[in-house]
Amino acid sequence: MVIRIDKYLSNAGYGTRKEIKKLIRQKRVTCGGKIVKDPALKVEKAFEVTIDSEIVDLRIESHIIMNKPSGYISSNVSNADYPSVLELIASPHPEYNIAGRLDADTTGLLILSTDGNLIHRIISPKKEVQKLYYAEVSSFDKTKKEAFFKGIEIETGVITKPVRTFEIMEEKGDISLIKIGIIEGKYHQVKRMFKAIGSEVVKLHRKAIGGLVLDETLESGEYRELSENELGKIFEME
Ligand code: URA
Repeated sequence: MVIRIDKYLSNAGYGTRKEIKKLIRQKRVTCGGKIVKDPALKVEKAFEVTIDSEIVDLRIESHIIMNKPSGYISSNVSNADYPSVLELIASPHPEYNIAGRLDADTTGLLILSTDGNLIHRIISPKKEVQKLYYAEVSSFDKTKKEAFFKGIEIETGVITKPVRTFEIMEEKGDISLIKIGIIEGKYHQVKRMFKAIGSEVVKLHRKAIGGLVLDETLESGEYRELSENELGKIFEME
């Protein structure tokens, strides 16, 4: 694999591309024994790269699983109201992208990766990777269950693909706990599906992506690197 040195070092956890460019300007980076001058220099895994004379970790890609807390946005940058989930990750860290965004008030399984291809395979509706949610829903009308398997019009002309999973797990007064699995990720999709049939999602938690289930030992806000085995599970049928 051939990769730009600024991306390579960023993926290996040595800072953002901007920070790496600064290190290069300061002549602190070498590749194959020579000082690097161009952040676009192409490197291979076989080359020895150093920063401040220390050999860097040769990992090319990084993929992490996070138990997203409420109050964070699934975007690479914070906004005026909420910090980005990237604020939860120890710095310096690689340039992660987020596979399938969760709303600020949604909790649960989030995958972040430096590998754009992997992200695409997870979120593309064509790949049919199920995203499984536990939704607490108020005023749910059971007679509307079939509509989820047919597709729901969430705005004029926009009809969702049939759900893969729909199960009422518990009912307490006006609140139903519903397991719902979708294979696309339209904006606010789960909330809008319920809204379209006259209910309201009051709590939403993502439990699984494909065959990868949220590691319950991860406290809210915690994250860790995914193993190869877990990466494979994402694309196994749940
Ligand atoms: N659907 C929603 O409405 N919100 C999320 O965060 C995820 C899916």
